[in-house]
Amino acid sequence: MRAQVGIIGGGPSGLLLAQLLDRAGISSVVLERRTREHVLGRIRAGVLEQGAVALLREAGVAERLDREAEVHGGVAIAHGDRLHRIDLAALAGHGVTLYGQTEVTRDLYDARGAMGGAVIHEAEDVAIHGADTDAPWLTWREGGEARRLDCDFIAGCDGFHGVSRRSIPAARLAEFERVYPFGWLGVLSRTPPAAEELIYARHVEGFALCSMRSRSLSRYYVQVPLSDRVADWPDERFWEVLSRHLPPEVAAALVTGPSIEKSIAPLRSYVAEPMRWGRLFLAGDAAHIVPPTGAKGLNLAASDIRYLSDALIGFYRGGDEVGLAAYSDRALARVWKAERFSWWMTSLLHRFPETGAFGARMQEAELDYLFASRAAQTVLAENYVGLPY
Ligand code: APR
Ligand code: PHB
Repeated sequence: MRAQVGIIGGGPSGLLLAQLLDRAGISSVVLERRTREHVLGRIRAGVLEQGAVALLREAGVAERLDREAEVHGGVAIAHGDRLHRIDLAALAGHGVTLYGQTEVTRDLYDARGAMGGAVIHEAEDVAIHGADTDAPWLTWREGGEARRLDCDFIAGCDGFHGVSRRSIPAARLAEFERVYPFGWLGVLSRTPPAAEELIYARHVEGFALCSMRSRSLSRYYVQVPLSDRVADWPDERFWEVLSRHLPPEVAAALVTGPSIEKSIAPLRSYVAEPMRWGRLFLAGDAAHIVPPTGAKGLNLAASDIRYLSDALIGFYRGGDEVGLAAYSDRALARVWKAERFSWWMTSLLHRFPETGAFGARMQEAELDYLFASRAAQTVLAENYVGLPY
């Protein structure tokens, strides 16, 4: 088998790249380890920056998004009993779009299907060969049979646990990491959201977030110790702890109901540099992870794919290698700023037992400053809606 670009991973990064390349007349094959149902069963964040929405429109996959998604002009930060709205639209010029990552992925799969684009599911033992030569190839097993794809370039879009980053010699990669001493317990419930807009809450006992997927589907999170298991959190306990972490007027408006999904995710900041080795290019979670505070994961995947698709299209249109040479530096410049913002929001809003009373006072002072300073709110707003590409 031959294609111009071999793409490993059929998550949002890999599918969006395939879609943009296809529209530019560049052939690709996507190799995905899991089934389509499994990929679409994953629940992830749901806040899209303007740049990500623009890219989805350009890829021709935003029709349902434009019909169904809500634009939020603000976001609230709660501290104990106080609730403060950050006016994103006034401070940063525009808001954010609420649309679940699962829906983005579903729209991308539908579009790949409509274009007849190749996505090979249940591709096992994907391996990268000759990435440091001009003629790389991929091998994998499909239903027990050995397969091979020859290509010009490989895009490693296979997430944090994928094979792409691990295929780069350790001496060629620098890794930067912070693992946080807590996780997020998330609950999805068929209930109307507690408020019109998202609420990020700092409470002495820990962080909480009120988010939503629609007017009848809510997504909530509370900070939990890493040792906790989902079984430790029956619905009643979750609702009780969540309401305790919210200002009284929000807790009073909270509509509870049975959870339809419940999971615990650890929080991590991670970057691998550079995002290229020879003809292998990393994009999305394969190269970097942000903690979910600020919802930058999918948005960073989108900016990586913006730069990578432009670079590949430039190469195939006129042999221009400048974009490919600049890809890693361009992507990382934006990645590090989103890493900083996600780390900052995480540091501000969670309970860190090990930083003691001094750390808690620093958080309180910073929140007090944020609530009173338009300059501080502008910094939050322009990062939250997304820095320019
Ligand atoms: N071979 C083939 N596919 C693989 C392999 C492998 N060895 N390892 C992983 N994959 C697949 C996974 O099954 C998954 O579907 O690669 C895909 C990677 O998708 P994501 O993890 O969603 O990563 P990405 O597409 O970069 O999207 C980034 O998704 O993980 C969230 O928070 C993240 O919102 C961000 C966004
Ligand atoms: C979500 O809706 O799941 C969500 C929203 C905002 C975040 C993280 C997750 O910062």
